[in-house]
Amino acid sequence: MTNVQAINWNTPENIWNVLWHQNIAQMWTDTEFKVSRDLKSWEKLSVDEQLTYKRILAGLTALDTLQGDQAMPLILLDTEDLKKKAVYSYMAFIEHMHAKSYSTIFTTLTSTKETDYLLSDWVGNNEHFAKKYGITETQYHRLKSGLLRDRYMARAASVFLESFQFYSGFYYPLLLRGQGSMVASGEIIRKILIDESIHGVAVGLDAQDLYAEMTAEDKVACRNEVYRLLEHIMVAEEQYTHYLYDNIGLTDDVLKFVRYNANKALMNLGFDALYTDVAFNPIVENALDTSTGNHDFFSTKGDGYELAKVIEPLEDEDFDVKSKMVNDGI
Ligand SMILES: [Fe+2]
Ligand SMILES: [Fe+2]
Repeated sequence: MTNVQAINWNTPENIWNVLWHQNIAQMWTDTEFKVSRDLKSWEKLSVDEQLTYKRILAGLTALDTLQGDQAMPLILLDTEDLKKKAVYSYMAFIEHMHAKSYSTIFTTLTSTKETDYLLSDWVGNNEHFAKKYGITETQYHRLKSGLLRDRYMARAASVFLESFQFYSGFYYPLLLRGQGSMVASGEIIRKILIDESIHGVAVGLDAQDLYAEMTAEDKVACRNEVYRLLEHIMVAEEQYTHYLYDNIGLTDDVLKFVRYNANKALMNLGFDALYTDVAFNPIVENALDTSTGNHDFFSTKGDGYELAKVIEPLEDEDFDVKSKMVNDGI
């Protein structure tokens, strides 16, 4: 017997309705941003600053490709609830928008040859990035077993990526944006950050649903495994951050930001923070304020952006040019 399924949204609203609406309300495309405006500030950056920026974008592209190609679709296939699946499907799409948006920035700032090198050679051959990427991808492969513990750990790894591993890359574009440099590119990164915030919450809630199904013994084992995975990832993050930022003297502050976000990831999984929060650069902290309408002076497109909410239905007259001209008094 074929198992026919038809999603029914006409059921009592739950958190997955909210997550669907919030995701849709945040929808954007890379082509809405005028990255060419950043050329002047790009030329003012030092060679080392440009190098850090380019490596950041290349790494973020690979991480978003991992989320769009593997994390979201594989977890979707491992999920039964149809509303959850719909949310995962949307998130898979927007991960590809994220991945594409870095190319939009590359197109403006670098040569085709250099972009090709960064996205085909550098991401694949850089030992620090490969280590960070590999830890997470290995966890996603655990979905194949179908075991509750593996299914949970794949989601936990995804939460770490969404809420924590992206942030060593986000730091510098957010810092420059707050200083009035590379503002359009920084706005794209900030839109991505706002999306990743909701992804971390969504995947975290799904993980917590699986956690609730576990025996008390498995819960202890998984909780311990989550903290072990975090420590493993943190070692890779520290090495990667040194590699990216030592040449421009920002490593210490970036690592404070990274640990702050590691705590956020743990909270999304329903666990206690591990690291003591230490203040990091307030310019970067301000960029985390995702409350609607908080445009800053430099914004070319802020998070106050909303989709049109009042849509008038089309009427026959709309198709009648003559009638429209009369109505418009022409
Ligand atoms: Fe993403
Ligand atoms: Fe994401």
